[in-house]
Amino acid sequence: VPTAVLISGRGSNMEALLAASRDPAFPAEITLVLSNNPGAPGLASAAKQGIEAMAIDHRPFGRDREAHERALQEVLVAHGIQLVCLAGYMRVLTPWLVGRWEGRMLNIHPALLPKFPGLHTHERALEAGEGQHGCTVHLVTAGVDEGPILGQASVPVLAGDTPATLGARVLAREHELYPAMLARSAQAILDGQ
Ligand code: GRF
Repeated sequence: VPTAVLISGRGSNMEALLAASRDPAFPAEITLVLSNNPGAPGLASAAKQGIEAMAIDHRPFGRDREAHERALQEVLVAHGIQLVCLAGYMRVLTPWLVGRWEGRMLNIHPALLPKFPGLHTHERALEAGEGQHGCTVHLVTAGVDEGPILGQASVPVLAGDTPATLGARVLAREHELYPAMLARSAQAILDGQ
């Protein structure tokens, strides 16, 4: 199943997805990496691995979010993409684009949704005194971090944790969870569900 990954920055989840999709038995093939940020380190890395990697900078579009998304959509369609993974894609999508990918767009969020939607999740989990924290892969809907949950992975919060130590523990689980959830979604498409 031809799959695109959308990133804005570092791209460690993208790397995990690329690594998984290198296995010919993996049901999704990452054929495109797109970023709104031309400087995203993940773009260069994907290109180096022979994956088509492209930036479509949002800035020239000003406040017209949909115009930027139409440009993204054109590239997604031109590449025959059937599944989209948001992986640290830091732009909120409009209902226009989300509507075009209903059930076919996944996101990873660094918290156990519905707890801690939005930003700074590790700080907030620590402040709230949570004993468990983790990550969630969910389908993207118009409400930010609100779509149906596909899967979660938990980690313990340990004494002395900082947002950085806790975040690193969560990130390691993200790198396992996201490929597993992508595989499941792609397999469902192959099975005609
Ligand atoms: C991850 O923590 C992910 O859960 C969140 O943004 C971060 C992206 O990191 N949505 P990376 O670019 O995948 O390294």
